Amino acid sequence: MSDFKWTTALSVGDNEIDHDHQELFALVDELADADLSDSFLLGLIARLEKYTEYHFAREEEYMKQHAFPDLEDHLEKHHLFVEWLKTVEKTYRRSAESPFQIGDLVNDYLGNWLTEHILVEDMKYRNFILEKIRQDKAT
Ligand SMILES: [Fe+2]
Repeated sequence: MSDFKWTTALSVGDNEIDHDHQELFALVDELADADLSDSFLLGLIARLEKYTEYHFAREEEYMKQHAFPDLEDHLEKHHLFVEWLKTVEKTYRRSAESPFQIGDLVNDYLGNWLTEHILVEDMKYRNFILEKIRQDKAT
């Protein structure tokens, strides 16, 4: 079990996005509990790449749909994460580091990144969009 958990404090007010975030925390857990091997780690990185691509696209669409003004800034944060993941994979394929070292690094970085990204960045669109929906309903 990892130390990183999804709680309702991390809810962004959209069920599908919350569900994606829960799935990402489940991947962190899976990594924390895994009996690490080369193939497992590379498989997990590949799943993470696929899942983040899918999730980021959903989040980006949601922000666009509601005309979130800081979209570009948020996209940049997603882009940096994708780059980080690619670098980890490349480095791992090139180096002789044990899967445990990389597994720990990915686990820590991913758990922290997810929690902080949701609490800081995702909360910005959450607050903006929920307020907008509230105002639309009131008019
Ligand atoms: Fe995000």
